[in-house]
Amino acid sequence: MRPISRRDALLLGGLGTAATVAGGAGLWWSLASSQQPTGGTPPAQGSGLRSPPELRSADGRLQLTLDAAPGQVELGGRPAGALCYNGTVPGPTLRLRPGDELTIRLVNSLGEPTNLHVHGLHVSPQANSDNVFVAVRPGEGFDYSYRLPPDHPPGVYWYHPHHHGMVAGQIFAGLFGAIIVEDPEAMPVNRERVLLVSDTTLDSAGNIAAASFMERMAGREGELLLLNGQSIPLLTARPGERERWRIVNACVARFLRLRLDGQQLQLLGLDSGRFPDPETVNELLLAPGNRADVLLTYTAGESALQALPYDRGGMPGMMGQGRAPADGTAALAIVRVDGEPGAPPGTVTARPALEDLRSAPVAARRQIILAMGGGPGGMGGGMGGMRFTINGREYSEARTDTVVAAGSVEEWTLVNTSPMDHPFHLHVWPMQLIEDNGRVLDVVDRRDVVTVRANGRATVRIPFRDFSGRSVYHCHILDHEDLGMMGVIEVR
Ligand code: C2O
Ligand code: CU
Ligand code: CU
Repeated sequence: MRPISRRDALLLGGLGTAATVAGGAGLWWSLASSQQPTGGTPPAQGSGLRSPPELRSADGRLQLTLDAAPGQVELGGRPAGALCYNGTVPGPTLRLRPGDELTIRLVNSLGEPTNLHVHGLHVSPQANSDNVFVAVRPGEGFDYSYRLPPDHPPGVYWYHPHHHGMVAGQIFAGLFGAIIVEDPEAMPVNRERVLLVSDTTLDSAGNIAAASFMERMAGREGELLLLNGQSIPLLTARPGERERWRIVNACVARFLRLRLDGQQLQLLGLDSGRFPDPETVNELLLAPGNRADVLLTYTAGESALQALPYDRGGMPGMMGQGRAPADGTAALAIVRVDGEPGAPPGTVTARPALEDLRSAPVAARRQIILAMGGGPGGMGGGMGGMRFTINGREYSEARTDTVVAAGSVEEWTLVNTSPMDHPFHLHVWPMQLIEDNGRVLDVVDRRDVVTVRANGRATVRIPFRDFSGRSVYHCHILDHEDLGMMGVIEVR
């Protein structure tokens, strides 16, 4: 065992008594449960946070090529054979403005089909825009073109592959990146950080581990919990400074319950939503696919950004084995605030409130039932018969499940009949959360991933404006999506 440094001690102290420390390239620290993510190899003392490369639009345009290819990178301090966009994990951050045109040539240098989805962007789902029915075969390319409306909500978005059946595996292997839509007026902060949280598992050869069928049914959670591909990087700042964090939960199945004790966190918004005034929070819960836009105002001290346990339930009838990992706390980063006091560059002013759909006329009400259950073969013959369905059916690209009148506002009740949470995601048209498991919201909470708790329900209202065409809704535990928990919507 290597000696415990002050920083380790601080980390472990914050993690409770179950922690152990081991040295070398292996396990750094681990917790009571064997299913906990390890910290990977500890960063060299003071190893700072790395950021993905940034590409910014100019004169209303951003044009780029994204090459999806296997590559050798470092993940959590270990050499890893991953899948990369343009050679990095995460891929480049794209910075856009409302009204911009984004043109991406996707080149598929993988050994399997892929495609591209711009998660959360309010853009057309048709043709060569955000069309998830496009399949790009190995060795081929595809030219995507997205036009953001001039009133596109500013915020944090992201891109990732969406070829049905391969989504979880490709994201778990490293294919994801952030998209930022800038505010009309810059927020007065000392610095901005883009923080993509992901998890993955490396096998002994340093390649991305495949998931078993059981893991896919529970939703795979990786052993390495990563922030911009790093394990517990160090973030430094001065007391009094203000930062803006753009956090993306790019994990395939892991919920992130984030906490940064000792510092003030204010939530500007989740997904494409925003609050007129930043909301002071102690904790942030991000389902897979969710993003958070956060302000921090620093006081001197050192603390760990922690991912706390979250119980998202388990498989019906499975004891232990099919249970989603839930217990134990993991550190994502160390935040060290010291030195001469700095000062924030100005006052944060209120931003315009979002439209409230609670008073909008509702054109139709629907129920969307998310279920897991034994199909042909049943539970007796192993878990092979487990079906993941929406309204009783598994995904079929050829079938349109829901037809909606363009321009209307609908109210959907999302019902979960299974003992596991399902984060429900709808493309293109953001949802306003109205009621969450019996709790009626008193704020405008607009998001594109809404968690439907195990055996629970949620009600949302959706404005089907601006765009028509076919797209999808699905569980953002991407293994569940790949296993069939997805439906096709057509707005016309
Ligand atoms: Cu983040 Cu349908 O996807
Ligand atoms: Cu999406
Ligand atoms: Cu699910």
